Amino acid sequence: MTITFIGHGYVGLVTACVFANFGNTVWVVGHTARKIQKLKNGDPIIYEPGLKELLEKNIKAKRINFTLDIKEAVSKSEIIFITVGTPPKKNGEADLSTVLNVAKNIGKSLKTGFSIVSCKSTVPVGTNKKIEEAINRNKSKSSKVAVASCPEFLREGTALQDTLSPDRIVIGSESKIAIDKILELHQPIGGKRIITDLASAELIKYASNAMLACKVSYANLISFYCEKTMANVETVLDAVGIDNRIGRVFLYPGVGYGGSCLPKDVKALVNIGKKLEIDTKMLDGIEEVNKQAAKYFLQKIIKNASGKNIAIWGLSFKPNTDDIRFAPSIYIIQELLKKGFKITVYDPEAMDNIKTVFGNSLNYANNPYEAVKDASSLCILTEWDEFKQISMNKVKKYMKNYIIFDGRNIYSPTKMKDLGFKYFGIGRNI
Ligand code: UGA
Repeated sequence: MTITFIGHGYVGLVTACVFANFGNTVWVVGHTARKIQKLKNGDPIIYEPGLKELLEKNIKAKRINFTLDIKEAVSKSEIIFITVGTPPKKNGEADLSTVLNVAKNIGKSLKTGFSIVSCKSTVPVGTNKKIEEAINRNKSKSSKVAVASCPEFLREGTALQDTLSPDRIVIGSESKIAIDKILELHQPIGGKRIITDLASAELIKYASNAMLACKVSYANLISFYCEKTMANVETVLDAVGIDNRIGRVFLYPGVGYGGSCLPKDVKALVNIGKKLEIDTKMLDGIEEVNKQAAKYFLQKIIKNASGKNIAIWGLSFKPNTDDIRFAPSIYIIQELLKKGFKITVYDPEAMDNIKTVFGNSLNYANNPYEAVKDASSLCILTEWDEFKQISMNKVKKYMKNYIIFDGRNIYSPTKMKDLGFKYFGIGRNI
């Protein structure tokens, strides 16, 4: 098949590479010449494990093409996927301006005959109808189009695995031809197929991300109880999660959820709820606990750090990505700077991105040991593997005072105490 992806972020580029690798001819459309040139040269722009290799392989095989010209791509394609961003507006509402503008341009570029337009971007209920209207207003009479909603569930950091073996593939459409064609495209991929209407497909994505955010906030809330009662959050959540009805996954407390999806989608669902006159207290609570998680951790640092020199390991919103969008590290660093802390940071992949936010206000280290030199305390904000088995004896040699604030519970409290560190984790009072 010949297919197009409009947008080359985590969803667009990863999915494009995977489908190209299955032998399809794939077009990827962008609007920044510099980025399109990088992609043509095999630079994925973002860091995602395995993506660079897959991109290079499919460029070599001439199965993936990059262009600034939407018409060049869309006019050749049987299926066009919209994979552009839907960032939150100030009021939390999803900003659909890019999605609808893309829909208009797709309409102007469709080939004669039948094409399918499928939206993978996370969009509020009713958006696919608007996409269809925008296309119909702009297309020529000789073009026919069917719209399908195919929400994406891949996670950053494991995007390739998630795309190749998803739990489910959701297709919402009123067109049987569109559903069959999209099913045919996904034939090499596993996962349960859920065929439904447009509105349900659109809502499934928000309902899933809000549930994930709910689990994280619930784990954080229980960690607050553990800290006040001297209970151990890991034992509590291990025991809670062993119940099949609950499950242990996504019940890990920390400094709060971040990224471009969970924070934005909970806000958007609140906004959708308000418009529909639904009481959104429960969703408001998820957001509130998330803010508290970062705030309580920050207070722990301010109260217990013995000096103002602090090293921070981990800046991305989760491991295996360079993405810092809505990362808890940003809020924590901003607040520590206000309190006069001198901060040295290290992250395996997110250093360039964090520099664009903080510039000269931080010191940037080349490795974890360099970051802790003369530091009074060490703070871990992302659970990169690189930090898990690091030599803490060596770390101690570089540090001035031996205090650890472990925002992701990656170390054993007793082991750290035995090594001579004063250790502060999340909900673990040992
Ligand atoms: C999330 C969803 O998991 C994907 O299914 C979805 O496709 C994606 O959003 C999207 O909408 O595009 P992602 O944002 O990549 O994926 O990251 P997650 O793995 O969901 O983690 C989100 C945040 O929750 C991270 O900051 C992570 O550190 C935090 N988290 C996660 C916890 O604090 N505790 C946990 O137990 C799990």
